[in-house]
Amino acid sequence: MVLDELADRTVLTTREYATPDRLNARIALYAYQEPRHDLVGSAVRLLHRAPGPVLDVGCGPGHYRAALRVDRPDRAAIACDLSMGMLLVAGSPALVADAAALPVRDASCGAVLAMHMLYHVPDPEAGVAELARVRAPDGTVLLSTNGARDKRRPRDLHDEVVRELTGGPARRHLTRRFNLEDGERMARRHFRTVERIDFVSTIAVPDPEPVVRWLGSMGDAAPALLGEVRARITAIIEREGTFRLDAHAGFLLCR
Ligand SMILES: C[S@@+](CC[C@H](N)C(=O)[O-])C[C@H]1O[C@@H](n2cnc3c(N)ncnc32)[C@H](O)[C@@H]1O
Repeated sequence: MVLDELADRTVLTTREYATPDRLNARIALYAYQEPRHDLVGSAVRLLHRAPGPVLDVGCGPGHYRAALRVDRPDRAAIACDLSMGMLLVAGSPALVADAAALPVRDASCGAVLAMHMLYHVPDPEAGVAELARVRAPDGTVLLSTNGARDKRRPRDLHDEVVRELTGGPARRHLTRRFNLEDGERMARRHFRTVERIDFVSTIAVPDPEPVVRWLGSMGDAAPALLGEVRARITAIIEREGTFRLDAHAGFLLCR
């Protein structure tokens, strides 16, 4: 059986998300985003009127929960993640728990977030069902993930290098495990209403490093392969001035 590294609990908690470092390398690419989308600010606005408590599932270092607490200090906001390293940064109250088996009563949460995390759940639809189970009758679930074509250009470039240099199969990317289009289909099976909000942008980098670091921040990328990717992006920047890629994320607001 091939290990599905993108959803393996040990790989996720000891390598990918043992600390926020790899996630931060990924987020750094958005410094070159145009227009800039403030996903955390948008989530705060959308959830302003939601009742508490708030449960931020797969909270990572807790950016969403921190902003939600500033906006509505009257609501309890609980950090939840598989990784103890992430929860140490996110702060308390915190739950070490799996999105597919939340230790939370049915219909008990006024707002449930699952931001850019369902692609790591072995069965993403089981995760969606679990979020629906814990949502209070007047509560809201907010999911986010990337569209199927998000950052296609560097992903394709990386896969091309892997095939040419190793003859091996291309890497399985997060957006192929679970993307916005999959999420919308699944959410419609578990909620009465689903509103989709798209965030489309372009990222244009003037040097290859942010893209190489983004690719190197996922999985076990071999330095030789990343070196070749760097060389190809450098050649594109020499020709075109920047390396441009399309980014596409989205929210699903579910009730
Ligand atoms: C890409 S990060 C997103 C962090 C945060 N939600 C954000 O958008 O900034 C994914 C997070 O989900 C967590 N995670 C992965 N699988 C999980 C699961 N099955 N249950 C709970 N958390 C999980 C990881 O440890 C990591 O902190």
